[in-house]
Amino acid sequence: MGKIKILTEKVANQIAAGETIESTASIIKELIENSIDAKASQIDIILEQNGLNKITIKDNGIGMDPEDIHCCFFRHATSKIESLSDLSTITSYGFRGEAISAIASVCKMTITSRSASSQFAIKISLMGEKLINTSRAGRSIGTTVDIESLFFNTPVRLKFLKDSSSELKKIEDIIKQFSLANHNIHYRLFLNEYLKLNLIPIKSIKELQPRIIDCLNKDLTNHLFYFEKKTSNFLLNGFLSSPYISRKDSLGLLTYVNNRFIKSSILIQSIKIAYDTLMQNSRYPLGVLFFYIQPEYIDINIHPQKAQIKFLHTDDIQKDLILSIKSFLSNTPWSYNLNKESNSTLKNNLINISPVLKNKRERLFPITESHNALLKQEKEKYCDLKFIGQIFNTFLILEKSHTLILIDQHAAHERINFERLNMQKNKIIPSRRLLFPQIITVSRVDLLTLLEKIKIFSEYGFELEPFGASQVCIKSIPIELSDSQAKTLILNTLSDLHTENWPTSLISFSNKIISTIACHASIKAGQHLKTIEVKSLLSQLDAINYSTHCPHGRPVTYAISSQTIAKWFSRT
Ligand SMILES: Nc1ncnc2c1ncn2[C@@H]1O[C@H](COP(=O)(O)OP(=O)(O)OP(=O)(O)O)[C@@H](O)[C@H]1O
Ligand SMILES: [Mg+2]
Repeated sequence: MGKIKILTEKVANQIAAGETIESTASIIKELIENSIDAKASQIDIILEQNGLNKITIKDNGIGMDPEDIHCCFFRHATSKIESLSDLSTITSYGFRGEAISAIASVCKMTITSRSASSQFAIKISLMGEKLINTSRAGRSIGTTVDIESLFFNTPVRLKFLKDSSSELKKIEDIIKQFSLANHNIHYRLFLNEYLKLNLIPIKSIKELQPRIIDCLNKDLTNHLFYFEKKTSNFLLNGFLSSPYISRKDSLGLLTYVNNRFIKSSILIQSIKIAYDTLMQNSRYPLGVLFFYIQPEYIDINIHPQKAQIKFLHTDDIQKDLILSIKSFLSNTPWSYNLNKESNSTLKNNLINISPVLKNKRERLFPITESHNALLKQEKEKYCDLKFIGQIFNTFLILEKSHTLILIDQHAAHERINFERLNMQKNKIIPSRRLLFPQIITVSRVDLLTLLEKIKIFSEYGFELEPFGASQVCIKSIPIELSDSQAKTLILNTLSDLHTENWPTSLISFSNKIISTIACHASIKAGQHLKTIEVKSLLSQLDAINYSTHCPHGRPVTYAISSQTIAKWFSRT
C-alpha cells in the first residue's frame, strides 16, 4: 500500500507558518511591516507579559475596506502585487500574502480595521485561521491586530518562547531597526501599561546619530560620521564609525537594502575591506548603512522571512561600494573638527529623546582623551606645527595650541610608502627567485581557483606553478616577503576566496603585499632623525589620505590635551 499522503491544507499552512512565524519577535516584525506598508505615521506595540499573554499592534495607516478584512487572512491574499513581474518594481515590505494567514494559523487573532471610505470599523476574530466572529466596531482610520493564545496548537514552539526576556530584547531590537530606516514614524512599545520605548519621528537622516548611538554603542559619541554617495547604480548613505571604535564581529554594522533590514554579506564585506588598512586584527567598524538600488537589480524572494537578498552584478556593485566607502574614509573626517552645527543637532536630539537618558549618557560616557583630543581640532598641517623633538628615537613630539601630538615615525612613514605604492598605476612588485622552490598542498577547489588567478598572482611578484593534482610549486615571491610570509599569504588568499569574492580578496591580497613592502622600506623605530628629515616626513604625511593609521591599522598619532597634562599636576 502506498505510503505517500497529501497533507491537509491546515497542516500545510501550519508547516509553512513555521518558516515565517517562529517567535513573538517575528510576528511583531511582520505586523510592523504591514503597518508601514499601510503608510502609518504612528505604530503602537503593546505587550502583555512580554507578549506571551497578548500582543497588540495598533496603527493609524490607511486601514482596510470591509471586504478586504474578510479576505486578508486567506493564504496568498495580498494588495501589494498582482503578478510575479511586479516584484521587479516592488517597494513595499510585504508581497507574499502569507504573514496574516501564517500568524492566524497559530493563535487567536482579532483584526479591527477601518478605511477612509467607511463610517465604521469591522472587527473579525479568528482561531487557528477559522473565522469565529465578525462585528462592527468603532475606531479611527487604521488597523489594530490583537494576538492571543499564541502557539496554542503548536506546543513545541510555545516551549521555546518561555525565555521571554531574551525575546523582549529581540522585539526591542526589531522596533529600533525599523525606527532607523523609517524614522518619520512614531513608535511606542508598551509593556502592559508601562511605556518602554518612545521613538519619536525624526525628520532627516542626518539627525539619526543619537538614535544610532543609543542602539549600537555609547562610545560612538563623537566617533560616528555621516556620509552619502550616489553612483549610476545606487545611492548609499548612513553613518560609519572612526577606526578608533571597532568590534571583532560585524554585529555593530546594521545594513539596509531599500529600507529593509538585511544582514548583507556584500555590504558588510565591502565596509570591512574599505577599512582594511585602518584597523588591526581584521576588526569591523560600527555603523548603519542604507543602500538603495532599483528593485529589478535585486531578488528579495529567496528567504521565507525576506532576511536575505541576492544582487545581480555583485562584483560591479561591490567594487563601487568599496570605492564609495574608501573615498569617504580618505577624508579622515574623524581628524577634522566636529562642526558646531552637528554638535548642536546632537544636543537637541538628546533632549528630545529623554532628559534622563541625556544625563545618564553624559555621566556614563564622558568623552575620553587620546584620539578625541585630536577630534576637537581643525585638521591642520603637521608641518605647520611646532616640532619639539624626537623621543626614544621613535616618536616625534609636536605642539599645537592646547594639544601635544605624538607621532609614531615608523607608522607614519609606512602609511606614506603604502599610499605612494598604491598610487602607482602599474605596480611593479619586485620579486626574487627561491633557491629551493617550495611545494604547498592545497585542496582541489583551491588549485582550480589558483589556476584561474595565476596571472594576478604573477603581477604581484609570485611565480606559481601547479604541481600534480593538489600541490603548487612556489618559484618566486615578492622580494620583501619571507618564504613563510609568502606561503601564508597564498593560502590565506585562497581561503578568503571561499568566504569572500574576488574583488574583496584581491584588495586585501594587494594590501597585504604592499603594506609589507611599505613596512620594510620605512624608517624604523629607534632610528635617529634630523630635523630636516622630520620636516620632510611631516609634509609627506600632510599630502596623503588615511594618514591617521599605518597600513596595518595602528594609529599614527596620539594627542594629549593641555587640560589632561594640567590634571596630572593637579592644576584644574
Ligand atoms: N496594518 C494593516 N493596514 C492595512 N492593511 C493591512 C494591514 N495588515 C494587513 N493588511 C492587508 O492585508 C493583506 C495581507 O497581509 P499579509 O501580511 O498577510 O500579506 P502581505 O503583507 O501582502 O505580504 P507578506 O506575506 O509578504 O507580508 C495585505 O496585503 C494588506 O492589504
Ligand atoms: Mg505583510
